[in-house]
Amino acid sequence: MRLSVAVRERVAAVHRGSALPERLRLYDGWADSYEQDVAALEYRAPHLAAASLAFAFPTPPAEARLLDVACGTGLVARELHRRGFRCLHGVDGSTGMLERARSTGLYQQLWQCALGREALPVPAEHYDAVTLVGALGEGQVPTTVTPELLRVTKAGGFICLTTRSNPPNLQYKAELEAALERLEKQGAWQKVLAQEVEYWEKATSEEESTQGTGYISGMIYIYQKCPVPQLKED
Ligand SMILES: C[S@@+](CC[C@H](N)C(=O)[O-])C[C@H]1O[C@@H](n2cnc3c(N)ncnc32)[C@H](O)[C@@H]1O
Repeated sequence: MRLSVAVRERVAAVHRGSALPERLRLYDGWADSYEQDVAALEYRAPHLAAASLAFAFPTPPAEARLLDVACGTGLVARELHRRGFRCLHGVDGSTGMLERARSTGLYQQLWQCALGREALPVPAEHYDAVTLVGALGEGQVPTTVTPELLRVTKAGGFICLTTRSNPPNLQYKAELEAALERLEKQGAWQKVLAQEVEYWEKATSEEESTQGTGYISGMIYIYQKCPVPQLKED
């Protein structure tokens, strides 16, 4: 099925790298049709991230407390709930997206937060797992958010991240991977998984499609916070 011009334009608009207040307004306006649009895009990140996290998770998921960062309308929570996760909290910058997330009834708590500008509104060492799916990318959440994700994760807890591998996002992806590796070298966390996935979602233009397939690729990363983080100097 071909993507409609309206879907292409809405996706392009949020990736255009506008200032944060303008971007969050775009998401407010997109909230009502977001799930329909990402279904047309065949967007698989929430499903793939939740499946990978559930696979890595060592204890019964019902006992785990999880924070879904940049939760959007709640697609990640839906996938996690299907896999037995029951204690779900969420944060996002867009009030429109948060309203939709609230209406799912899947989150016990939801907060508004401008990621990269404000600290997460939760205590340190509070979560068994933290997800950030579909929002680490050029013009979205800055890579500088990673230490904050670590701060709120319990020792031994998991952090699950995704990014896109399409050409306009390759520089961001390189910066993200450098930030992830720096924290690993400092002894803050250990890599559990870094997996490239083809057919991540439909491309919105010929130029970004992987070898003419009509799709782009993406990445899933899972890190585990070290039991006793020993932050070393670079
Ligand atoms: C593409 S959606 C992904 C939502 C959800 N995780 C999913 O996979 O469907 C990106 C989300 O990130 C949020 N977002 C983008 N940049 C943000 C920022 N700097 N601070 C807070 N939220 C942000 C948007 O409001 C939006 O809900």
